[in-house]
Parts: sequence; C-alpha cells; structure tokens
Amino acid sequence: MDSEISARDENELRETARKFDQEHIFRFWNELDDAARARLSQQVGDIDFPFMHGLIERWVRNEPPPETFDAITPIPVIPPADPARPDARAAFDAGEAALRAGRVGIVIVAGGQGTRLGFDGPKGAYPIGPVTRKTIFEYHAERIRAVNRRYACALPLYLMVSDTNEAATRAFFREHAWFGLNERDVLFFRQRMVPCVDTAGRFLLDAPDHVAANPNGHGGCIPALVDNGCTKDARARGVDTLYYFQVDNWAVNMADPYFIGYHVLGGGEMSSKVHRKEALREGVGVHCICDGEYRVIEYSELDLYPQLLETDDHGAIVHYAGNPAMHILDVGFVERIAGAYDRFPWHRAFKKIPFLDDAGDLSKPDAPNGYKFETFIFDALRYITHAPIALEIRRAGEYTPIKDFDGVNSVRRAWREQNAYWAGWIEAAGCPVPRDERGDVSIAVEISPLFALTRDEFIAKSDGRAWPTHQDLAIDPRGEVIAPRAP
Ligand code: UD1
Repeated sequence: MDSEISARDENELRETARKFDQEHIFRFWNELDDAARARLSQQVGDIDFPFMHGLIERWVRNEPPPETFDAITPIPVIPPADPARPDARAAFDAGEAALRAGRVGIVIVAGGQGTRLGFDGPKGAYPIGPVTRKTIFEYHAERIRAVNRRYACALPLYLMVSDTNEAATRAFFREHAWFGLNERDVLFFRQRMVPCVDTAGRFLLDAPDHVAANPNGHGGCIPALVDNGCTKDARARGVDTLYYFQVDNWAVNMADPYFIGYHVLGGGEMSSKVHRKEALREGVGVHCICDGEYRVIEYSELDLYPQLLETDDHGAIVHYAGNPAMHILDVGFVERIAGAYDRFPWHRAFKKIPFLDDAGDLSKPDAPNGYKFETFIFDALRYITHAPIALEIRRAGEYTPIKDFDGVNSVRRAWREQNAYWAGWIEAAGCPVPRDERGDVSIAVEISPLFALTRDEFIAKSDGRAWPTHQDLAIDPRGEVIAPRAP
C-alpha cells in the first residue's frame, strides 16, 4: 500500500520537477530503499517549485542591476544611553515597566550553519568561558534568569533553529536541564530551508536522497515565528515586545531596559541598536536612509554606494552606524509583515556547496560552485511606519560577535573585551587587577550574570571583598571563586 502511494507521489513530484527542469534530483531513485524514497519525497514535496523558479530566473539566469538611490542619508542616532539625560531616564523607566509587566520575550536566531568558526555543533554550544568553558547558551540562559529575578518576570525564550541543528540544539538543552530555565519558557522554532542551485540554476544533491539546502536566512524568523505559533504563544502570555539578537553575541546586554524603553516610547514596531564603525570597511552592515526608506546596506555592497564610504573634514566616518544585529520587534508588526515575507528581497551568495557528482560520489569543491539564497531580518526595517529608532551602543558589555577563532570578530577578541569589561567591575569594587605594559588586563575574568548582571550589582554584592586577582578568576552564581576547568 505504502509503495503504491509512494509510486503515485513519485509520479506527481517527478512531473512537477520535470516542469521546472529539475528532474535530475530523482536520478538515484532506483537505488533508494523505501525509507530513503520517503525522505526524498518528503523534502521535494516541501519545495515551492514556482517560487524557486522565480528566484533562479531572477538571480542565476539573469542578474538584476544593483538598486540605485538618489539620496542616502545617515540614520538619526540616539546617543548612548546616559542616565544623566532625561530622555534616557524616561526610556529606562518605561523599559523596566515593560519588563515588570511581563511584556518582553527573547528571540535568539541560532539556525545558521556557523561554518566560519569551524566548530562542529550548534554555535551556542561553543565553550566560550575562558576560565569555566561555559557555553554561549549557558551565558544567555544565566542572563535571562538574572533578568527574571530582577523584574519578577519569566521572559519566554524563542530560539530559532534549522534542519541543520535542531536535533543537536534540543538535545543540548535537554542534557543541561534547560540551563535552569523553565522548560515551558524555552520554545524552539524551525526556519524553512531553501534548495541550493548550481550556476545553471539546477538543484544540487548532497546525498542520493537529499537536495542540498540551506536555512532561509535570519529574515526567515519572521514567517517562522508566526508559522510555529510563537506569536500566538507570546500573545497568550501578554508578551508584545520581542528582544532579538544573534546567538554568537556572547556579551549581549540582555533585555536592556533603555533599549526597550526607547522602543516602547517611540512607536514600537521595530527598533535597532547601532555601534560606531571602527573602520570604513568593517565587516558590518550600515544603517541608513535610502530615498526615504530605512535600510541596512551590507558590507559586501559598500562599493556600490560610495556615499557610505565618505569621511568628513576631520576624517570621521559619516555613515558610522554599524549593525550589531540587535533589534526589538513588536509582535503585531511581526504578524503584519509575515504576510509581506514573499516580497522580502532575497540575497544570493556564491558558495562552496558539497554535491554528488555524476558517479554519485560526494565532491567538496575548493572554489564556489553554486548559490545559496537568504533573507535578512533588517530588511523588515523598510516596513516600519514610525520614525527610525536607532540607539547607539558602546561595544563593551554589549557586542562581541564570534565569527572566527582569531581576528577581528573572533573568540580571542571576545575574551579580551569581556576580560577588560569584567575587570573594570572588579577594580570598581576596589580590587586591583594585573595589567601588562600596554595596560591590557593580563588575567582571564568571568563573572556569572547570576551573581551580578550589572556593575552596580557587582559592587554592592562585593561589599568590600578582596577578590583574588593574582590568577585567572571566575566567580560563580553564588559569588564563590571557582577553579579553572581543564581545557
Ligand atoms: C551579520 C549581519 C551584519 C552584521 C553582523 C553583526 C547579515 C547578512 N549580516 O553578518 O549586517 O553587521 O552580523 O555581527 O546577517 N542565522 C540564522 N539562520 C540563518 C542564517 C543566520 O539563524 O539562516 C543566524 C546565525 O546563527 C547567526 C546570525 O544569524 O547567529 C548571523 O549570521 P552570520 O552569517 O554570522 O552573519 P554575518 O555575515 O556575520
């Protein structure tokens, strides 16, 4: 019976694939057992062939000219929140009120493939703590628990995963007992996948029963939040404000009341944090207004828009608003633009994509051989109807993206910056920290967010204690100094 159904399905699927010139994806069919045939049929049945055909026509068989703009102007930026300023105080109060009222949820996008870091596993499972080897997920969870404790709330965590890492991510959370979060407050939601194509626009197979595919980009969280029932869940909890960031940002300022407050007071559809670019060609997107519309232009496209590379008479970067990929999204806004997702721009990347060659052997190309398609979360900014809300941050204690092990946005730099950040707290609590001749902190420092989420909390809890700073120092949730774990 099953094989009859599968024969009928196979015919229909083949017919569709043939219509769109993709029938080759069935070329190993006769060698597949029933389970493998079912897997392939399931995957192919989920592919939106007319849509893929449109993408291929637009981006592979043709190449649309880059967008042009008459005017690109800098985004208006709110300077870093300073409690001495009345606007910042008002924002802080509004943000705290929203947290206390249970209006805030957390969205972490963690569905990406993380290939650059060369770590075999979900990026959040990376052991980032220089002393404790605590993982990025554990840090995020500790921060959420600390915010929950401070505001007597229960921030739900919506964690975006993809086919490539869902099972591993769920298992990791289960093994670690949800890092002390309530299981019912951790919701995994899966983004969709998009087939990869070769330079002729034909789907690639990466196994006899599998079409090579990649997650649909972090923009995919918009439909995925709705399709997986997260927006409904949020509404049922009274949550209307989603605090969004990327899993690889170890230092994130979790549920920052200033940011939440500016968002809530400012019209509250979608808001962004921005940071001052360190170099004209820093590998981050740039927030700007293009012909009146809020855009983020990716670093890879800077040369198309020379205005973005201008400096002023003093050599300062005019378009300095770099994109740390931190946003706040209103639940109603997510629901509204999920309906417009089909009109989101797609971005094409030319990549090395493993594929089965004619003999059926897996080939790992040394040079790019095909295209991946993705959507980006910041493209949702063009749909806001209020004035842009872009809050500048300083990097310390907020932004340590971990893209590679070494280099600009790397694990090593993240360690250095968090050491410096936490060492500042220890010094403020009255304990000198050893520094090298350049003034850099020369020990590794970790402070559990559950012991202290902020510098002021740390000073208050330290209460004159002499922290042992003669060697690497990690302070656990109870304020105990813990011995370094073996690497
Ligand atoms: C990204 C931004 C860039 C920003 C920089 C800040 C893009 C295209 N660019 O660059 O503007 O300045 O971060 O650090 O995003 N992810 C998913 N699903 C996907 C793809 C990605 O969940 O389908 C997640 C990843 O797990 C990761 C994050 O999105 O947490 C960012 O992806 P990544 O590829 O590292 O973006 P960047 O190129 O570094």
